[in-house]
Amino acid sequence: MNPIKAPVLGASALQARFAALSTLLKDCAPLWRPEPRQNLWPHWLQTLSGIQNALEALGAEQILAIDSDLTAQVQLLEPFIPQAAQIPDLCAVPRWPSNPGLEAPAERALRGVPGRKRDQIEAFAQSSWADTAPRLLDWCAGKGHLARTLAVSAGRPVLCVEREARLCRLGRGMAIEARAQVQFQTYDVFEPDVEGLLAPDVFAVALHACGGLHRRLLKLVGSSGAAGLALAPCCYHLFEPDTYQPLSLAGASVDMPLTRAQVRLCLQESVVGAARDVRARLRGLAWRLGAEALMSELLDHSLPVGKVPGKRLRLPFGDFVQTILAERDLVLPQSADWDRWETLGWQRAEHVQRLELVRHLFRRPLELWLVLDRALFLQEQGLETHLGIFCTRSTTPRNLLLQARR
Ligand SMILES: C[S@@+](CC[C@H](N)C(=O)[O-])C[C@H]1O[C@@H](n2cnc3c(N)ncnc32)[C@H](O)[C@@H]1O
Repeated sequence: MNPIKAPVLGASALQARFAALSTLLKDCAPLWRPEPRQNLWPHWLQTLSGIQNALEALGAEQILAIDSDLTAQVQLLEPFIPQAAQIPDLCAVPRWPSNPGLEAPAERALRGVPGRKRDQIEAFAQSSWADTAPRLLDWCAGKGHLARTLAVSAGRPVLCVEREARLCRLGRGMAIEARAQVQFQTYDVFEPDVEGLLAPDVFAVALHACGGLHRRLLKLVGSSGAAGLALAPCCYHLFEPDTYQPLSLAGASVDMPLTRAQVRLCLQESVVGAARDVRARLRGLAWRLGAEALMSELLDHSLPVGKVPGKRLRLPFGDFVQTILAERDLVLPQSADWDRWETLGWQRAEHVQRLELVRHLFRRPLELWLVLDRALFLQEQGLETHLGIFCTRSTTPRNLLLQARR
């Protein structure tokens, strides 16, 4: 088997990067652990002299621009947080080179796949190793877009496992149309007998399999004789317990307890959000904070307001609050000055956004830490493991691709 000559991270580089990120995240924990939404006045606002003025000087457009640009975040925050200067280097991950053994994905394999998904699949397929396993397994395959692409360009059969029968049915039809050697099994990957699918002649691929789904794959690849895997993880918190369980021994030896909310931090991106979505998110936050302030002050009621369906945000603010009060069997003693509470909500939402600029500096370091925990687990299981990115962040912010083989 060919050695990996790509400039991606492998062997000791994975361990060194994990150790450096562990130090950064532990040293800076007071800056990223508290959620501004729950704690409007975190301790660091007082201890980091001058940071409050620097954040308050930013206009709404600047906040959004800085939030999606790591370099700008570092420039803004480095005078107050010296560790910020290390973050670009600690987060630099080389791109997987194109695999010369693979043909460019054939048009017939990707027909009907929408824009950004198509770019992701093309990039993933081109970055896959020239592994020699005769069979591929697409884990949590959806409609099997990746499977079709690989079956056509790598000329090997692919088995898709997917829980949703409807997706399997649609995927089968698309595979027949594309003349791709793709089979589907409607399967819940948490079923005990799924291990039988990971035979020594099988190489598994998984594009954006969520937390517990890809954890299951990693464990099975580790314990079975499967040839290896190519995994682009996403939604690290889903199908997982409330507290993060490190996969690797290296991860378990770092004292870094993580709640589900803290794990979610690494997914808080505005990089691919349309301006309309960004405005809707801010409005939702402002209204929830306004409703909370009103309930706390007028009714001595302090339960936070969770995410609300988008259609409620099209109501006038007063009606929006009344729906929440009705759900909680609360009645206002007198009519409320809705404008006042709405204005307060918007002020608090902008304040939260400013505080989040600090927390968001640690999104990518935390994501990389989680992915390196997976990489080190595979190393500990005796697999040769490498990490690179497979596409730009504008194609998908979940662009880390871990590949491992026996
Ligand atoms: C984020 S989608 C990714 C789909 C596909 N890999 C892609 O990139 O288009 C995750 C997929 O996992 C499937 N899934 C969720 N839970 C599952 C389970 N327990 N067993 C198998 N598939 C599951 C979902 O139905 C969904 O199709």
